[in-house]
Amino acid sequence: MRSLFDFVGGEAGKWRVLSAAAVRGAPLDPVGYVDVRPAGGDVPATGNAWCLKGQISNLRYATRAEVTALRSSQESLGRTQARRAALIPIRKTPAWWDLAQDERRAIFEDQSHHTEVGLRYLPAIARQLYHCRDLAQPFDFLTWFEFAPESADAFEELVATLRSTTEWQYVDREVDLRLERQG
Ligand code: HEM
Repeated sequence: MRSLFDFVGGEAGKWRVLSAAAVRGAPLDPVGYVDVRPAGGDVPATGNAWCLKGQISNLRYATRAEVTALRSSQESLGRTQARRAALIPIRKTPAWWDLAQDERRAIFEDQSHHTEVGLRYLPAIARQLYHCRDLAQPFDFLTWFEFAPESADAFEELVATLRSTTEWQYVDREVDLRLERQG
């Protein structure tokens, strides 16, 4: 399986941009479309406002019980009815990265209930996390979600809940792009 992907913002692509908001920190240059491609393909030298790279990686925080719960209810990307998507690139603060792994897990789950809350929105929301902290990128994570238009309100609720958690106090850059599949 290929694990390295390019998220290309430009004037063409599979996903049309419905909205783009800088939630925290600097925005991304405005684009009309986003395309998600396996890295290493042809990316035209001009006409792309940005190209963010991310890699599918191993889990860091999920326990065995959480992995089992996730696997029993999560859906794959690419479902026909999932005509909406969200691309939310996120960077966390130096204070977060200075913590030890057990301290990060405690904030992520014991205090913020990230997985417990997220599981309530499965299988309607399909998700994929891409890591980019070690790829010399402007963000630490590219988070990607796909859902049917009927689940858009539920997704708003989920995002608002997560942004109110202790975990999000460690987010210092976040951009939120909402997308609609073309065709
Ligand atoms: C759809 C329901 C969701 C579920 C079930 C879910 C579940 C998870 C899980 C299990 C992890 C940890 C993976 C690991 O063990 O390394 C994770 C990480 C993460 N999720 Fe979610 N999530 C959901 C929604 C969201 C949303 C809406 C956002 C952004 C607004 C988000 C942002 C992140 C980020 C940035 C990480 C990486 C955290 C870190 O490593 O510091 N998640 N998620």
